[in-house]
Amino acid sequence: MGAILQSLGRTVIAGVVILLVIMGIAGTFGAMATHGWSAFFMRWLHVLSGVMWIGLLWYFNFVQMPSMPKIPDEQKPAIGKVIAPEALFWFRWAALSTMVTGLLLAWMSGYLVSALSIARPHHAIGIGMWLGLVMAFNVWFIIWPNQKKALGMVQVDADAKAKAARLAMLTSRLNTMLSIPMLYCMVAQQNGGL
Ligand code: HEM
Repeated sequence: MGAILQSLGRTVIAGVVILLVIMGIAGTFGAMATHGWSAFFMRWLHVLSGVMWIGLLWYFNFVQMPSMPKIPDEQKPAIGKVIAPEALFWFRWAALSTMVTGLLLAWMSGYLVSALSIARPHHAIGIGMWLGLVMAFNVWFIIWPNQKKALGMVQVDADAKAKAARLAMLTSRLNTMLSIPMLYCMVAQQNGGL
């Protein structure tokens, strides 16, 4: 067990193996050739990506940002040069993956246009999708370019660096705010919440 858990890659593979065993016992493999199962599989990929994305968004806002003032200056590079770039890698690609799997899911379910037009009965997921799309736009076109300047991956003067850090921080806060109604709308579609 230790040999598995000491490696992240082996841990993830073990998680997939456990899932395959559960699916085997439940007799799911026979139903996999259907359109319904493919849409379900896309929904699972979508939720996995969404958890990675919003998990890291909340890590930045609930843990990293409030902790920065408490960290001595000489230790701050550990966050800025090591942890933040790594977290931002998973963050931005999870955002893209969540968006692509979400749009594919709506398309496979046959209501992509109806949802994006916020037409009934797809208004709940439509609002959630628009909120999610705005958030994904913010990640790729505001947070990431400004974080690159703030973290010194792109060289700019001190004034531009401070401005970029502030804009990235405020946009990350905006996404945290939007994540609350967005997640409500995501789960409302199936469960009559809106
Ligand atoms: C970026 C834009 C996004 C799009 C286009 C999108 C699209 C969708 C669609 C089409 C569904 C299926 C709704 C249904 O028929 O029940 C859905 C469900 C869901 N989405 Fe998203 N989504 C996005 C972002 C997110 C994010 C960031 C999360 C974070 C975890 C998330 C979590 C969920 C959950 C938990 C469900 C419910 C699954 C269920 O009830 O079975 N989505 N999304």
